[in-house]
Order: sequence, then C-alpha cells, then structure tokens
Amino acid sequence: MVSLATSESSRPRPSSACRSRSTPGRGDGDRGAAGGAGPVTFYIEWHTLGSACSTMAHLVSLRVHGTLERLPSLKVLLIEGGIAWLPGTLWRLDTNRRALRSDTPWLEHKPSEVAREQVRFSTQPLEHTDGHDKLLWEMLEAAGARDVLCFASDYPHWDFDDPAFMLKAAARGLARARPAQERRGALWRAPRPRRHMSGWHDVGSLADLERDGHVVARVEGREVGVVAVGGELRGVRNRCPHRGGLLCLGTVEHRVIGVPGGYDLTDQLVLRCPWHGWEFDPVTGACLDDPALRVAVYPAKDVGERVSLTYEVVPSTL
Ligand code: FES
Repeated sequence: MVSLATSESSRPRPSSACRSRSTPGRGDGDRGAAGGAGPVTFYIEWHTLGSACSTMAHLVSLRVHGTLERLPSLKVLLIEGGIAWLPGTLWRLDTNRRALRSDTPWLEHKPSEVAREQVRFSTQPLEHTDGHDKLLWEMLEAAGARDVLCFASDYPHWDFDDPAFMLKAAARGLARARPAQERRGALWRAPRPRRHMSGWHDVGSLADLERDGHVVARVEGREVGVVAVGGELRGVRNRCPHRGGLLCLGTVEHRVIGVPGGYDLTDQLVLRCPWHGWEFDPVTGACLDDPALRVAVYPAKDVGERVSLTYEVVPSTL
C-alpha cells in the first residue's frame, strides 16, 4: 500500500516504516479543497465530496500514470471514499482511454481491468439509495464488486456501517445482481453472410479516394466505404459500433505505444474513428480498445478508375 494525498499543503509524508515495500502506508484526502470549487465552507461539503473526490483522483492518477502496470505487485486499498461513483469513474476512464489513447499509449490494458486486479475499495461509507438498492448493486456488480470490495465498518466514527446490516445487504444485493459478463455475452453476435448481396459494387472514384483518403456510398441499403491502408484498399461499414460515428471518415494512422513520458509509433495501421477516437484494425474489423466490438469489413479493389467492394464476409470476421 502507498501513502496518498491530494494537496501540497496537506500532503502527508510517508513514514519511514511505509517506505519499506512490504509495509502499508496511508494518507487522508485533502480537507481544504474538496473539488474544483475551491476550499469548502461546511463540513457537509467536505464529507460529501472530499473523500470521494480524492479517492477518485488517486484511482485515476495511479492508473493513468502507469503506476499499476509498472508495479504489478503493488496493491492499493482506497478507503472511506464511498463506492457508488466507482462504476461511472471506471467506465469514463475506459471510454476516455479509447478516445485519447495517443495521450497515454502506455495504458495497454483497460483501466478498469487493471484497477480490478490491484485496487480494492472499502464498503464504508455505503451510499444510502432511497429505495434504489437494486440499481446500486447492479452497477457495482458491473464494476467487479465481488472482487474489489472489502468490508470496513469505520467504527468508531459517527457514520460507521453496522456489520450486521452491511454484510447482509452486500450479500443480498450481489446475489440479485446479474453478472455483467452474462449480459455482455448476449449483446454481440458474429455477423452472418448475406446471401443475396454478393458480387462487386461500385463505391466511388479512385481519384476521390486518393484525394480524401476514403470514398463512401450507400450500397444495397447499407452505408459503406473504402479506405486506403498502406497501399491496400479495405472496405469498411461506415458506422462505428461505439456510437454510430462515420467511421470511414476517420484517419488511417500508425498506432502509438509508449511508456509514461515517452511515445513511439508502431508499424500497425489503424482506422481511427473521427467521433471519439476509438481505433479499429481495418483488416479484421476488430476494435483494438474493446474486444467486444467489431465493425464489418469487406474486400475492396480498384477497377480502372473506380473503386468497388463486395459484401462477401471476410473469413476472419466470422
Ligand atoms: S469512437 Fe465513438 S462513435 Fe466511433
């Protein structure tokens, strides 16, 4: 465990005992500035924001700076920060990593996955949901609650959680929440070949492709495009599986990798969605940032001055 804090003025120094790798350390959140609105005035402000915001900040910082990946044996326990914010923060972090991956290319794995491996969170203070317990536990289940939550009572603080209540509530809540993996598995199905849509279809002119980097056309009711990838032509459905962005209007770029503070271009060419920046393998259609997503890809070729594609399914997409 490491010593954590959020402000220079109140930053606790790791004790000499904590400097040993095997000895846990601890740190409190900043009691002066609870968020981005300046110093707080009332205790309720700090109690609502302070511990939660500082816990979120530590989680994101540890992850984004690559600390957890560089120190795979490091275990971090974040306590007294509440937990209802956890799913949203991890989802947001995963989403932003895909969109902004050239900013931190050293993040090879989804932030939520690494956090799940190395970070644990205390249950206290469990948020009171005003009758929405099912929703809370479903969200926590999606964030890997079974693996990452540790019981804490925080006794004798005034807002401690009674173990007789807390342990029962957690067991009941998690038992009712369906595993997110099951839901997710049901969402994606392998594309099937379309029998009646074989043959080659004209998509545009080679001159337009060379000028714009893509041509797009509606073919048999489906919007598709052709992009140039390292001298090869690739047909791609013009609909990003993330949020429906016009994927063919994106850019073909070299994928960036790196370590904290350093960037490297790889030889791998990717198609980058113009909406949120998620990257796709233009050959297989696989989303490089989310294995559950895939875009349909098609064989394409130039015929004289024209470009065409076929809807015959590329074997690797099956
Ligand atoms: S990355 Fe969001 S729509 Fe494509």
